[in-house]
Amino acid sequence: MDGKCFYGVSQFMMRPLFACFGETPSLSKPSDKEALRRAEMRQKMMVATVDMSKPGAAEQFNRSLQETGFAVLVNHGIQRSLIEEVYSEFKAFMKGLDAQRLEAQATAKIRGESDPDALQAAGHKAIEKYLRNTTRFDGYFPMDLAETAKGASVRDIKHYYHLYFPDGRYPEDVSDKAQVMFEQMWDLGLKLCTWIDLGLNETVKAKLAKNGINSLTETISKERTLFRLLHYPSYEGDKVEAGAIRAAAHEDINYITLLPVGSSRGLQLYSKQDEQWYDVPFEPESIIINIGDMLQELTDFHYISTTHRVIKSAEEPEGMDRMSSPVFIHAKAEAVLSDRVGTAAEYLNQRLTELAKNNRGEKK
Ligand SMILES: [Fe+2]
Repeated sequence: MDGKCFYGVSQFMMRPLFACFGETPSLSKPSDKEALRRAEMRQKMMVATVDMSKPGAAEQFNRSLQETGFAVLVNHGIQRSLIEEVYSEFKAFMKGLDAQRLEAQATAKIRGESDPDALQAAGHKAIEKYLRNTTRFDGYFPMDLAETAKGASVRDIKHYYHLYFPDGRYPEDVSDKAQVMFEQMWDLGLKLCTWIDLGLNETVKAKLAKNGINSLTETISKERTLFRLLHYPSYEGDKVEAGAIRAAAHEDINYITLLPVGSSRGLQLYSKQDEQWYDVPFEPESIIINIGDMLQELTDFHYISTTHRVIKSAEEPEGMDRMSSPVFIHAKAEAVLSDRVGTAAEYLNQRLTELAKNNRGEKK
């Protein structure tokens, strides 16, 4: 998905047929018709569009996440107008920072500076108030610090801002709307975690209980949850062919990701079974949910983290900039995910180390 924070390579495996659907296998054996439907869904990676106002929404949500790693939510209660207002404010804010950075570089050049590192430092100095720090990783990531997709040789053309609450640097130059949006997204995420709790099987519940935990919801951390505002600028000669990769294939590292749908199609997920990419349903004003590697690990692959990517769709106009605003819900640092990977903090460090190697030494 275009909020491709914390991507990387991870183990991916499909669970055996029937070992899903959120109840212990002994409680109910799927009918032949249901078994066929599940096999077809898995085969085609058919992501469910879940109307949150309808009965059975939680069950449908869980089933889709267990089968495909994704679900699309409609009637989720978050106003699109709020999201658009946040986009408008952050776009202007980040474009301003970008302009300051480039102006400082140009001034340094006029003064005779030619060393690329010195020019970069001059640009960063001009925006140091919000420049990302290398401990908390909050703040602004200018285009010359943007991540490099795995397997790519150049940085993605984007810049972004990491918000953490309550202790991250919240820009003075914007209203409190992004905070309001984060609170709403967090509340939605919390509700979805209680839904996921309903879908845990007895094996996973027993595993959690062994660590003194009664539910997934107990293990999530608001302070570690990342709200990322991204701006992909348009640029001269933006002639990306339809089908070209906007975000390389990856899996998210965190528990679950909430992503307001973009202005056009393009999000796809990968089926290892038939080695094909499938479109995630495009529903205007929806919020797309996907499982990350941490939840997959915690639930012993009962909920799966699926490889996904963003391609440029044929309907996407040339030369348009766009915004994206994923919320990456994370686990508490001390939450034990599995014997294999240890705690959430240990696992995150391991994954960030891998990422840093791919990003020319720049951690994300
Ligand atoms: Fe992603």
